[in-house]
Amino acid sequence: MQMGCAVGGTLPGSLSPVETELVTRHFNVLTPENCMKPGPLQPEPGRFDFAAGDALLHFASERGMHVVGHTLVWHNQTSPWMYAAGIGKSEALRQMEQHIRTVVGHYRGKLQGWDVVNEAVVDGPEGYLRETPALAALGTEYLPLAFRLARETDPDVELYYNDYSIEVPAKRERTLRLLDLLDSAGQKPHGVGIQGHWILDEVPFDDIATALRLFSERGLRVMITELDIDVVPRKTAGAEVTARSADGDDPYAAGCPPELLERQARQYEQLFELFLEHEVSRVTFWGPNDARTWLNYWPSARTNHPLLFDRNSQPKPAYARVMAVAERHALAR
Ligand code: XIL
Repeated sequence: MQMGCAVGGTLPGSLSPVETELVTRHFNVLTPENCMKPGPLQPEPGRFDFAAGDALLHFASERGMHVVGHTLVWHNQTSPWMYAAGIGKSEALRQMEQHIRTVVGHYRGKLQGWDVVNEAVVDGPEGYLRETPALAALGTEYLPLAFRLARETDPDVELYYNDYSIEVPAKRERTLRLLDLLDSAGQKPHGVGIQGHWILDEVPFDDIATALRLFSERGLRVMITELDIDVVPRKTAGAEVTARSADGDDPYAAGCPPELLERQARQYEQLFELFLEHEVSRVTFWGPNDARTWLNYWPSARTNHPLLFDRNSQPKPAYARVMAVAERHALAR
């Protein structure tokens, strides 16, 4: 099982020496937290900015680490002109084709895989595909098209569908339907990424086990791509990036109470039992340590403690638990 983490900013400058050491020592695959999203990569029509992505690749290759590209098609962090209402289908097609061919072409042969499409199915009890600008402009065919363009441009790179809460039955069924749609268009992905933005005491272990089984039964590699366990109570569920919580509470600014850290450790332990049992191929944490987590500023600003390493890059109780599971599993094999 590969162990990864997301890194933000432009490397190496955005990580301290201690964080660089942490990332190098504990992880073997990196995901760029923001710099390979459509908006940052193509801020203006036809102008591409690969500087931060190239620096990340250089950082990784110096350390023998792999890199996963994130992401080619998403409704967030994408310049509004790209699939703007009113540009017409052929122009939207041209935009998608130019973006994917340019970006996948630039990184051809250098990445392990791409999250081709991110978050394409709806939340909630009803519905199927999320009403995104790409869907409005191109119809459902945007999904197989994105995979086809990526595959044509780099035939050797792995291609993934990535989304949050797709372990929960309603979204899981929609995701299986989407995977069928890709399959019947001849664009079956190599794998599916369950983001794994979970909340302390609300981790849906049974749903996760079922989803891991069902996705693997489709012959797909299953990855946990953005793992964290939020410890701060919030009102907004899920991981919709545009959602904002109204409460500005910051209960753990002075530190995370030990009993919470212990509960978090046990929940991480239980998760890794499942990941190992179901042969998850990669687990990527969404950040190297608690100082660098997006949960410090989303869905509202507060001091969060969701990862295995604390603000000083020191291992938390969860780290020892995860290591112990890995060891037990290795011994049992
Ligand atoms: C987040 C980043 O961590 C933040 O820095 C950024 O402001 C918003 O996006 N699902 C995804 C990730 O697929 O790309 C998101 O990352 C978190 C939710």
